[in-house]
Amino acid sequence: MWLAVVVVVVAILYLASRKPRGYPPGPPRLPLVGYLPYLNPHLPHKQLWGLSSTYGPVVGLYFGTQPVVVVNGWEAVKEALLNDDLNGRPENVFFTILYKQQRGVMFVEGDLWKEQRRFALHQFRNLGFGKRSHEAVVHDETRALLQEIRKAEGSITLWEMLGVSNLIILWAVMGGKRLERSDDRLWDLVVRLNSVFRAGDISGGLVQSFPFIRHFLPKDHRFNVVNDGFRLVNDYIKEAIDEHRKELDPNDPRDFIDLYLIEMDKQKDSRDTTFEEVQLLASCSDIFAAGTETGSATVSFAILLMTLYPEVMAKVQKELDEVVGRSRLPSIEDRSKLPYTEATLNEVFRFRGAAPVTVPHKAMKDAILQGSRIPAETMVIVNLYSVMMDPEYWSDPHTFRPERFLNPDGTLRKDERLIPFGKGRRACLGESLARMTSFILFTSLAQHFNFTLDPSVPVPNTEGKSGFTLGPPEFKVFTKERL
Ligand code: HEM
Ligand SMILES: *[C@@H]1O[C@H](CO)[C@@H](O)[C@H](O)[C@H]1NC(C)=O
Repeated sequence: MWLAVVVVVVAILYLASRKPRGYPPGPPRLPLVGYLPYLNPHLPHKQLWGLSSTYGPVVGLYFGTQPVVVVNGWEAVKEALLNDDLNGRPENVFFTILYKQQRGVMFVEGDLWKEQRRFALHQFRNLGFGKRSHEAVVHDETRALLQEIRKAEGSITLWEMLGVSNLIILWAVMGGKRLERSDDRLWDLVVRLNSVFRAGDISGGLVQSFPFIRHFLPKDHRFNVVNDGFRLVNDYIKEAIDEHRKELDPNDPRDFIDLYLIEMDKQKDSRDTTFEEVQLLASCSDIFAAGTETGSATVSFAILLMTLYPEVMAKVQKELDEVVGRSRLPSIEDRSKLPYTEATLNEVFRFRGAAPVTVPHKAMKDAILQGSRIPAETMVIVNLYSVMMDPEYWSDPHTFRPERFLNPDGTLRKDERLIPFGKGRRACLGESLARMTSFILFTSLAQHFNFTLDPSVPVPNTEGKSGFTLGPPEFKVFTKERL
């Protein structure tokens, strides 16, 4: 009898630690938990990259029972991002809970994704995302931010202030209204989004494999922090959509929500339409969540790095003084005349991009990558950090050095391996907006202030803080007005 039990247990453990034939090489598979007990929540992108020195560019492992392939290094990353069979998205439990299905743009795939992504990109272009007409909105918001910094006493925490700026700028396009910085709800949203992005975890944790365990987790468990945060964002947007519904004038759409509602009405008799209210809600949540924390992290890191590399800040300020002067805000038209400043922002994106790994991809069907077989439904984690910090390509990658993006004649040097927004059909939907917003916020700050670190808050680790994305470490700065 006991022998039978032992045989059965051993057989189950054996089966649960097996990998499919031809699975990419990787660490041994533990039953039920896979690689999770080893995964370091602090800077996992570095650890996952490290596996490549043993197993090669394409590493096969398991998060819980979920098969996962990690892709490191330029050749493999490029091949993965350009292979459309690897452009799916794994199921996201938070969306399953909130919407009962995968909805929005970021976590959907196939025809739903194609249609929704195309619509969003098209309307963003119409609304002037990343273009001159949008610049006025960014400028207004920048002026309000500068004013707030001037009025602040003592040292300031930048990520919060910049998060509010990014939120207001995004909302101007999504929801039409110019929100006020004095609105407490905005600050609450920014703080909550930040805790969501820090509590989040690229692996999804054990809940991803065993969703039922979420019912047994304590209230302050990171799973619940993320879940409650997404719900708050969702409620905020739901309210705005209801208001838009009441005020809608089909002949005079004001913003993304209006344009979406009009498209919904247009398609309401079509049986296979993907334009539904829950889609609108989820897409807005995606864009809101994707754009606020990443944008604030980028500019916060940029200022932090300026305090650590004051010679770079001095050169940026000199270039700004010469090209823009001090009597007006920098504009996107100035970008081409500010190669050193552009190179500095490129170096920030390379050095501390907000997304060290992409949003997880998924193999839509059996696929081949660098000669390895990737079974359908495998999660694919594409490591952008391994491309942008590769010592074989970039000399001294851990030195912050904008000059690497300049040609000998001082013009901007483009590099195909600078891919902070990803590459291919899944690349970031907000890239042009994010680049433009970061450019104007960063240059306006540099134009107006000198920044120095507040020594009362020791900078713990300039590598940043992981989560769904990479955020800056805790730091505070003193500002001194230059104008
Ligand atoms: C500096 C800021 C940003 C960075 C570094 C960044 C980076 C990225 C990256 C690496 C991806 C994943 C690509 C992949 O899965 O292969 C992504 C996806 C996405 N981003 Fe961004 N992003 C930024 C700002 C924004 C903004 C402002 C928006 C909103 C307008 C946005 C909206 C999205 C969306 C909707 C997706 C999903 C696209 C899809 O699945 O088709 N992002 N972003
Ligand atoms: C700002 O810093 C530069 C050196 O980087 C210095 O020359 C300048 O005087 C400073 N300006 C103010 C107002 O402190």
